[in-house]
Amino acid sequence: PKPNIDPTAVLIKAYACQRRTPLKHHNSFLTDALEILSQNAEYNDNEGRSVAFRRAASVLKALPYRVKNMEDLKSLPCLGDHSQRVIKEILEDGSSREVESTRQSDKFQAMKALTGIFGVGVRTADRWFREGLRSPDDLFRTGQQLNRAQQAGVQYYDDLQKPVTKAEADVISDIVEKAVRAVLPGAEIRLMGGFRRGKEVGHDVDFLITHPEEGKEEGLMPKITNWLEEQGLLLYQKTTRNSYLEKMDGPARAPNNMDRFERCFSIFKLQTGSERASVSGWRAVRVDLVVSPYSQFAFATLGWTGSKLFERELRRWAGQEKHMSLSSHALFDSKQNLYLRAKTEEEIFAYLGLEFIPPSERNA
Ligand code: CTP
Ligand code: MN
Ligand code: MN
Ligand code: MN
Repeated sequence: PKPNIDPTAVLIKAYACQRRTPLKHHNSFLTDALEILSQNAEYNDNEGRSVAFRRAASVLKALPYRVKNMEDLKSLPCLGDHSQRVIKEILEDGSSREVESTRQSDKFQAMKALTGIFGVGVRTADRWFREGLRSPDDLFRTGQQLNRAQQAGVQYYDDLQKPVTKAEADVISDIVEKAVRAVLPGAEIRLMGGFRRGKEVGHDVDFLITHPEEGKEEGLMPKITNWLEEQGLLLYQKTTRNSYLEKMDGPARAPNNMDRFERCFSIFKLQTGSERASVSGWRAVRVDLVVSPYSQFAFATLGWTGSKLFERELRRWAGQEKHMSLSSHALFDSKQNLYLRAKTEEEIFAYLGLEFIPPSERNA
């Protein structure tokens, strides 16, 4: 039997990057609800409110016990009045009226369906919603103008809604490795994002690619995508060139989670089904490829592992507590006015004065 945990004796730190957050935790019945409200705030372009709910949910994910009553929450950070009201109602009644009515609302459901299309952000979805559109079918029916990404998003909508399994991610890893090795021997490839954090499913598969000889990685992406295209493995791809300049993008630039690596947002054609029964088919899978110079690889690794809230909290910690500026490219110390170089994630945590948190505990 599990020893009883005294909730008042559990100390939870205020920043998600100071805590260990496992994938599986004890409070999904609360965090799912708070994340609905966070998502809804995002759909209504209220970022502050969205982050507040997400932070509250994240604190509950880090708890080593299931919340039973409001007393259990007494010493916890990041739980605002609104979040506490929602939690209280769920503890007392089993559900929250606000959460349930949000979940059922026309706006929430339409925004979820529309932003679920690859290439469609909140702004576009909101415009379509105000024009009376509710689903991918409506776009098709009313002949909306779609860009290339959105066309692919609508075309492969059903496949892209299906979660990608770890087994599928492993098959794609093999393909990416083969492609990269064919065009640049000696390159290193790392599986990033949710799968690096130990998730069993994801909405896409993320890869980071580098080469130990700095400079060799320049212009690598078009070679990779050409190889993949020749093999008939790509349904869609959009490559963006590297645009990072230390002098311009470093300390002077406002903190931003969008990095400037050479990258490719793609949709792979993944063979499925059993060969023996010769019912071989295929499905579409979203794949993100990112190329980093070797000297930035540790920062890129940290930045592309996530979770998104964990990343956000790392940057907030760096800025507010350490007067440093962290990005997926570099760490700048404003007090010393210099860039701090790192070869490993461990070194970056150390510069930031943080205990190292392994990827599997970054599920904030
Ligand atoms: N990321 C980024 N810039 C982007 C998109 C993503 O730096 N334009 C980073 C995110 O901060 C995150 C990681 O890449 O750390 C993975 O993002 P994403 O694939 O969206 O999320 P996952 O955590 O992998 O979750 P999922 O399983 O849903 O893919
Ligand atoms: Mn636990
Ligand atoms: Mn991902
Ligand atoms: Mn991704």
